[in-house]
Amino acid sequence: MPTTTDTALLDIAGLTKRYAGVTALDEVDLSVKAGEIHILIGENGAGKSTLVKCLAGIERPDGGTMTFGGEPHRPAAAADALRAGIQVVHQELALLPALSVAENLFLQRLPRRLGLVDRGAMRRRARQLLEQVGLEVSPDTPVERLGIAQMQLVEIAKALSGDCRLLVMDEPTATLTPRETATLFTQLRRLTAEGVAVIYISHHLEEIFEIGDRLTVLRNGRGVHTGPVAELTPAELVRMMVGRDLDAEYPPVADRPVGDHLLRVTDLKVTPDAPPVSLSVRSGEVVGVAGLVGSGRTETMRAIFGADRPAAGTVEVRGRPVRITHPRDAVRHGISFLTEDRKAQGLVLDLPIAANMSLAAIDQVSRLGLLSHGAETAAARDLSERLHVRATGPHQKVRALSGGNQQKVVLARWLAADTDLLIVDEPTRGIDVGARYEIHQLLLSLADSGKGVLVVSSDLPELLGICDRILVFSKGRIAGEIARPDFDAERVLNLAYSGYLKNGISA
Ligand SMILES: Nc1ncnc2c1ncn2[C@@H]1O[C@H](COP(=O)(O)OP(=O)(O)OP(=O)(O)O)[C@@H](O)[C@H]1O
Ligand SMILES: [Mg+2]
Repeated sequence: MPTTTDTALLDIAGLTKRYAGVTALDEVDLSVKAGEIHILIGENGAGKSTLVKCLAGIERPDGGTMTFGGEPHRPAAAADALRAGIQVVHQELALLPALSVAENLFLQRLPRRLGLVDRGAMRRRARQLLEQVGLEVSPDTPVERLGIAQMQLVEIAKALSGDCRLLVMDEPTATLTPRETATLFTQLRRLTAEGVAVIYISHHLEEIFEIGDRLTVLRNGRGVHTGPVAELTPAELVRMMVGRDLDAEYPPVADRPVGDHLLRVTDLKVTPDAPPVSLSVRSGEVVGVAGLVGSGRTETMRAIFGADRPAAGTVEVRGRPVRITHPRDAVRHGISFLTEDRKAQGLVLDLPIAANMSLAAIDQVSRLGLLSHGAETAAARDLSERLHVRATGPHQKVRALSGGNQQKVVLARWLAADTDLLIVDEPTRGIDVGARYEIHQLLLSLADSGKGVLVVSSDLPELLGICDRILVFSKGRIAGEIARPDFDAERVLNLAYSGYLKNGISA
C-alpha cells in the first residue's frame, strides 16, 4: 500500500478558467495526498487538460487558489511549476524531433562536468531511464525516427528523470500496448511508495480501477465527485461522467447481409523480404485487424491505401484490378483511411470545425458542384451532435478544442466522405466512453448501409465488440482469422504472439 498522509500535498480550491465563450473550469476543488494516485476523469472537453495546464504554469487561472506543499502555488511559467517539483506529461507530445532521445531527456538539466556537458554520463543515465520504461532504442536515436508510442515512452522517461513530488500524466497510455502500460504502472507504484503523488488522466476504465486510489470526476468544467476508486462500480462512474446510463459497452451487432468483394488484396508485400499478405473485405462487413504494435498492421493498410509503395501484390476493388500508387488513387476508388497519426492527417488547426470535417469530401463533392457552405455547416452540425463534439459551434477553430474533440473532427471528416471502404486505425484512441459508443455505432451503420469497414485496433475488446471477423497479424503475416461465432480473446492473443515464439502456439 502506498504511504498516504492525511494532509494534502496539493490543494486546489475554486479553480476557474474561462476561454472566449467557454468556461473550461468552473470552481473546481481538488486535493491530492502524497503517495496516492489520484485519477482525474471526465468526458472529452470536461476540463482535465485545462486543470493540468493551470497547475503546470501554462495557463493562468481566472479564479481560485492552489497550494502546493503548504505554499501558495501561482506559477507564472512552466519553469516555476518544475522548480516546485511538479513534473507533467502533457497530452500533446512536446519533444524536439531533431534532437536525440538522450538530449530530449535532459533538456531541462544537462549533466555537466567542469561546466561542460558530460555526454558519457548523459548516455548512461539515459539508458537507465529507457530501461525503466521498457523502451529499447539507443539514446542517440533522433526522436523524429521513433513511432508515436515510443515518443510517448520518451516523454514518460523524461518525467521520471527529475526529482519530483507530484507527477501529472495526461493520457499517457493512449498509444501504449498493455505490456508498456504494465511497465509504466510498476514505475508509478515505485514512485508512490517513495511518497510521490500522481495525478493520472485516462479514458480507460480498467486502468483506472487497476491503478487509482482516489478519483475526481469532472463534468462540463465542474467537479462532480471525489472519493476512493474502490467505492464505485464502472457503471456508476460512467453515469457520473456522461450524466446518463450507457446500457451496454458496445452497440448490438445485427446480422447483416454480406455482399460482393469490395476489396481483395493478394500476396501484398510491404517490402521485398516481407511475407505476402492476402485479405478481403465484402460489402456489409466490419473486419478487425489485431496484432501487436509493429506486427505489420499499419504498414499493410498504408500500402493498400497507396501511402507507401508495396514491393509486390495485387489489389482488386469491386472485382477489378486497380493500381494504387498514391492516396489520391485510393480515394478515387472509394477507399478512405483514418491514420493512427492524427496530426499527420492534417487537421488544419486554424480552420473551423466545419471546414476540417469536409476536407476529404471536397475533392469529390466540389467537382460535382455540390459543396455549398450551408451544406457543409449542416453536415458538420449533424456529425458534431452525433459524436458529442464539445464546441461552441461548427465555426469554432479546431485549435480551441480538447484533444479528444480534435480526434472526433478527423474521424467525422472520413465518415462524411461517403466512401465504399473505410479503413480506420485506432479509431477511438483518446475518446471518452460515451463518444466511443457513438463511433462504434457509426461504423456499424456504415456496414448496415452496404459499405465495408477495416478496423485496426490495439483495443481487443473493441474488435471483439464490433467486428464480424478478426484478422490477426503476427510478425508481418496474417497468423489467423477468427469469425464472430468463434470470438475468444485468448485465441486472438495466442495468434498475435505466435510469430514471435520459437515453437509457436497453435490456436
Ligand atoms: N485555447 C482554448 N481556447 C478556447 N477554448 C479552449 C481552449 N483550450 C481548451 N478550450 C476549451 O475548454 C474546454 C476543456 O478542454 P480540455 O482540453 O481541458 O478538455 P479535456 O477534459 O482535457 O478533454 P479530452 O479528454 O478531450 O482531452 C473545452 O470545451 C475546450 O474546447
Ligand atoms: Mg485533454
